[in-house]
Amino acid sequence: GGDGGEAGPLLGFTAIPTSESDDIVVPEGYSFQVILPWGAPILGAMPAFAIDNTGEDQGMQMGSHHDGMHFFPIEGEEPFEGSSDEGLLVMNHEYVEPRFMHADHIGVTLSSGAVVMRDDGTRDRDQALKELNAHGVSVVHVQKRSDNRWEHVQSDYNRRITGLTPMEIHGPVRGSNLVKTKYSPEGFATRGTLNNCAMGVTPWNTYMAAEENWAGYFGNRDETLPREHQRYGIRASDSRYRWALANGGGEEFTRFDATSTGASAADDYRNEPNCFGWMVEIDPFDPQSIPKKRTSLGRFGHEGVVFGPAVDGEPVVCYSGDDSTNEFIYKFVSEQPFQKGVTDGSILDTGTLYVGRFNDDGSGDWLPLVHGQNGLTAPEFADQADVLVNTRLAAGIVGGTPMDRPEWGAVDPNNGDVYFTLTNNSGRSEANGANPRTQNRHGHIVRWAEADGNHASTTFAWDIFLFGGDAGQSGVDNLKGKGPDGETLTADNLLSSPDGLWIDKDSRVWIQTDIGEGSQNSGVFEVFGNNAMLCADPKTGEMRRFLTGPVGQEITGVITTPDQKTMFINVQHPGATTTPEEWGAGQRYVRSSWPDRNPVRVPPRSATVVIWKDDGGVIGS
Ligand code: FEO
Ligand code: CA
Ligand code: CA
Ligand code: CA
Repeated sequence: GGDGGEAGPLLGFTAIPTSESDDIVVPEGYSFQVILPWGAPILGAMPAFAIDNTGEDQGMQMGSHHDGMHFFPIEGEEPFEGSSDEGLLVMNHEYVEPRFMHADHIGVTLSSGAVVMRDDGTRDRDQALKELNAHGVSVVHVQKRSDNRWEHVQSDYNRRITGLTPMEIHGPVRGSNLVKTKYSPEGFATRGTLNNCAMGVTPWNTYMAAEENWAGYFGNRDETLPREHQRYGIRASDSRYRWALANGGGEEFTRFDATSTGASAADDYRNEPNCFGWMVEIDPFDPQSIPKKRTSLGRFGHEGVVFGPAVDGEPVVCYSGDDSTNEFIYKFVSEQPFQKGVTDGSILDTGTLYVGRFNDDGSGDWLPLVHGQNGLTAPEFADQADVLVNTRLAAGIVGGTPMDRPEWGAVDPNNGDVYFTLTNNSGRSEANGANPRTQNRHGHIVRWAEADGNHASTTFAWDIFLFGGDAGQSGVDNLKGKGPDGETLTADNLLSSPDGLWIDKDSRVWIQTDIGEGSQNSGVFEVFGNNAMLCADPKTGEMRRFLTGPVGQEITGVITTPDQKTMFINVQHPGATTTPEEWGAGQRYVRSSWPDRNPVRVPPRSATVVIWKDDGGVIGS
């Protein structure tokens, strides 16, 4: 790998067709193995998976709803290109589906939201604990066997970070009145990370977990919601999982009710939601390290973060999208220069957060979100912490371009081009150049080059790399190579709702789809089949379908080992199209039993899939 110059075409596999089967399909010449499903034991007493595992058991097992993921080679020395046979697989667990988690939820029609309530109107405390412990991040020590399969290694590296793990708040928001709580009256700390969607890897080899749809975990019954709650969609009623109602629960549960009850912020949890919506830095090689919320990168529905290549003596630059309808794409530029060998992530605590403005003429500007500039002034914003806690509001004021739900970003390691998936947006009333469809049901991928090839530039030039859609929608859908002509999508590569995105060392662009479970396999989405992963060559504009997943899931998370001979991807929420009644009918999963094939007692489970080429070659070649 590395230059991709010497060999033939980048894509060497035969496209696979769309699929509606309840299985993984890979191209001819490839094999796969399913590992680390939800509930697989990874540490401590190693409790075996069972539907009636306790909350404590869950804290020693894989979480649920696997999402963004990275493979850290076990020899963590720069340039972090160590072993391809042993490492730490680190992944996010985005959310849970209680109907598949608890023995007493099976077959019950869930009339009050997503969970079964007790007769007295409370939630079972241990179920709430199990759900909190199924969130967060898993650090899993893995190694390759001689037959290309991978297995878990018992060691001190294995770690679960959950919705309860103590965390520190760093950057300009540390100590702000807006994050003072009864738990941390100084505003220095909080507990847990939630709804971790995609991720990022810092140039100093730590993991960044994104907090995406965290707002739904909170409720606030105050008469008027503060803007830092309102703008993010915090409910004025019950929260998604009703953890605050845990029977006999302590503050670790009641904090999810952000209603003001005390005299001041330090007496209650009115500010608890302000402790979420950040990027969280985790050192996977230090199991004792305290995760740090890096507030300089802004507070929004972080899908993930992607770093530009770090250059000694130049600022560190990273990009992050806010996955919500008509929200923005952001860039952070550190104040301090990157220094090779420095492993302290505090370089992320000072710098400038920018929002992207995509002008209709193909140019773009990065607009700084700095207190005192561009209308971000008192009394509307008290200080920089206020700007960052209210990042969405600030970005709108300075003139960022509302996008069609920014999901993952990726940087081409060979030319610096930045790609972002814009998954879909059927609610856009006004088109703009970079979001040209008012009914954008199938999404697109925007791409840009920073001015002078410098990631710290404040201007850029963008184009659209790909429009999702059906092969029949000619004139609208295209796939651009670097040349002027677009290609129409075909049966080999039609896709909808691009979400996961990664570019490998040879510049293969890996694209994962997430057609929502309410839409997939029906209506205009039927033609796309189950969610899938495709691979594109950005030089030629070729693209082929590489993998299709089981029923009801999305494919998300993708990384290879440094030698590019093992690929890891995640299957999230298999069977999500199954209704509670279907699971109840004779306790059988009608629509997915992946991966266990035991539809009577084992629900469909999110899991990791290991993929290799039978001839031992580079994945995709
Ligand atoms: Fe969790 Fe935007 O996908
Ligand atoms: Ca996603
Ligand atoms: Ca998505
Ligand atoms: Ca998801």
